[in-house]
Amino acid sequence: MRKLNEKQIVLASHNKGKLKEIGHLLKPFGISVISASDLGLDEPEETENTYAGNARIKAHFAAKASGKPALSDDSGFSVEILDGAPGVYSADWAETSNGRNFSMAMSKIWDKIQHAEKPCKAKFCCTLCLAWPDGHDELFEGSINGEIAWPPRGNNGFGYDPMFIAEGMHQTFGEMLPTDKHLISHRADAFKKLIKTFEKE
Ligand code: IMP
Repeated sequence: MRKLNEKQIVLASHNKGKLKEIGHLLKPFGISVISASDLGLDEPEETENTYAGNARIKAHFAAKASGKPALSDDSGFSVEILDGAPGVYSADWAETSNGRNFSMAMSKIWDKIQHAEKPCKAKFCCTLCLAWPDGHDELFEGSINGEIAWPPRGNNGFGYDPMFIAEGMHQTFGEMLPTDKHLISHRADAFKKLIKTFEKE
């Protein structure tokens, strides 16, 4: 596995929630991060139907455009009884002509599962891709299992956080302190694997 020797990476994301969470996760390692939006990079189209495929598209695009190693995150929320939907289409389910509306996206899920047996199992998944300008990449996958909460609770986090309770927890991700969510989230799980590339042999 290739190790990261550079002290600065480009974060191949324009999602403010992810930027905040990833910035928080990388801080202890002294890696400075510039975001794709700070560099004025476009967002490539996510044309694959897997987290890994879309993570690769985003990281390679940013690494080639910036000439620096780039990290992308492709993630989503999956409901078991919906065969894993919205999954890779989690952001699309929130799309409206006025931007993303996650209250609407959460209601769409609830409409489909309200008559199902409870609790409804759900999970967050995350694939990180670290890509270098020479075309090499490394993938790291993480997930967290839990169940659906309804009605949504809490104003912390982003996206589907208010309707998800992680296994063993009582609060939704939307109610948990960000610092507590970051210890157990799907992204934290994937990051634990990525962090190894920051360590010197
Ligand atoms: P992506 O930018 O295509 O990876 O979209 C990921 C989408 O999945 C986000 O817009 C959120 O809707 C959802 N998502 C991913 N991670 C989280 C999380 O930690 N909390 C809540 N929603 C998330």
